[in-house]
This record gives sequence, structure tokens and C-alpha cells, in this order.
Amino acid sequence: MTEPSADTWTARILTLFPEMFPGPLGQSLAGKALEKGIWRLETMDIRGFATDRHRTVDDTPFGGGAGMVMRPDVVDAALEAATADGLKPAIYLTPRGRLLKQELVQELAAGPGLVVLCGRYEGLDERVIEARGLLEVSLGDFVLSGGEPAALALIDACVRLLPGVMGAEATLAEESFNTGLLEYPHYTRPAEWSGRSVPEVLMSGHHEKIRRWRQEQAEETTRLRRPDLWDAYRKRKA
Ligand code: ADE
Repeated sequence: MTEPSADTWTARILTLFPEMFPGPLGQSLAGKALEKGIWRLETMDIRGFATDRHRTVDDTPFGGGAGMVMRPDVVDAALEAATADGLKPAIYLTPRGRLLKQELVQELAAGPGLVVLCGRYEGLDERVIEARGLLEVSLGDFVLSGGEPAALALIDACVRLLPGVMGAEATLAEESFNTGLLEYPHYTRPAEWSGRSVPEVLMSGHHEKIRRWRQEQAEETTRLRRPDLWDAYRKRKA
């Protein structure tokens, strides 16, 4: 294991559940890269920044309603500590945030790393989001029970782009959201399975025909499944 240096890409996670990490990030590609020191994972327990005897991190919402709200003073103290060495951006994962796209993932992977604040309860006091200029990011139009699984997904997407993490660089260049198209379908042995055969062209050994077939498949799948991506792709080509 190599000792990580100050310029190692760093994911610093503020959470009430530090035991959730590294979780899946400790396995497979991300896990091996973590062991090799290609990136660093640091967790900071938000509860450690509570100041009262009961270590309170949340309180009831002004105006009433269900659930609890994370206190701005406690979260601010945690963010102060987490950003003291200048690591940024500081991201707050919330369904109210800007939708995560591969573009932002690429920007984050190209930078020094990120500070991620994982929310629990109903949410976070709005004032600390404003005061800290947190970048609010959403994984999609669904609600998770907290920011932790979202943080795992966001960090995974970044880590796989770090130099030396993925084996074949060509895999990255060809994949969806780099080409702007969804991927073509993949097949492996056996050539005949459960009454279904592999498209003839893939066994032809004719590289140009295969390339064309894959391109057509990618275009057709994108057109049918994601008209939004298809429109953007056509405008880019035009
Ligand atoms: N936290 C809860 N739901 C979320 C979502 N959809 N995206 C990001 N963070 C979340």
C-alpha cells in the first residue's frame, strides 16, 4: 500500500453514519484503487461537532410538520473542519439539487476531490446551504432515505475516471454519455442460448460491418428509449 500524498484525489464525507463507508467502494475497481492509494476516502462524523451534552444534531422544524431538520450550527462546524485545507467543492446531496450528469462527474474527477455532506431526517437548515454556498446535487427524481447511498454512487462515478483505475481506456471513450448515445447491446458465449442466437454480424469477423451495426443499434436504442438524448445528439451532429 502506497502512502497517499497531499495531491491524491480525496472524497471527504460528512455523515451521521460513517460505518456505511467504504461499503461497496471498498470492493472491485474502486476498492483496489483505494488500496493502491489512487484515491483517499475520509469520513467525518457530524455528531462529533455537536456541542451539547446529548450531542444533538437535529431539531424540530420551524412552522411545524413532520420530521427533524439538521441544525445549521452543527453542520457548519463540520463543514468548517472539512474544508479547512481548501478541499472543494462542497456538495450537498438532495433531490432538490441539480441533476447529476456525466459532465459534472468528469469535472469532479479532474479536480482535487470533493467534500460531500450527507443529509438525514427531513433535510438541512437552508441557511447553512446558502452561507457555505453548497453545490446541491440530485441523483434523480426519487427519494433516498439519506445522502449516503447517493454519496457512494457519486464517488464511484468519479473514482472510475481517475487515471489508473480502469484497465482499458478505450472502454471509457466508447461508453454512453461520452458518445452521447446509449450503449449498443453486448453478447458473449454461448452463441446459442435458450433458443436465442447472437446477431450474425458479430460472428462475421468483419470489423467495419460490426462497427456500423453497433452504431445503428446505439442510435436506435437512444431514439426509442431516450428521445431527450437523441435530440441533443442530433443537434450536436447537425
Ligand atoms: N438524498 C435523498 N434522495 C436523494 C437523491 N435523489 N439524490 C441525491 N441525494 C438524495
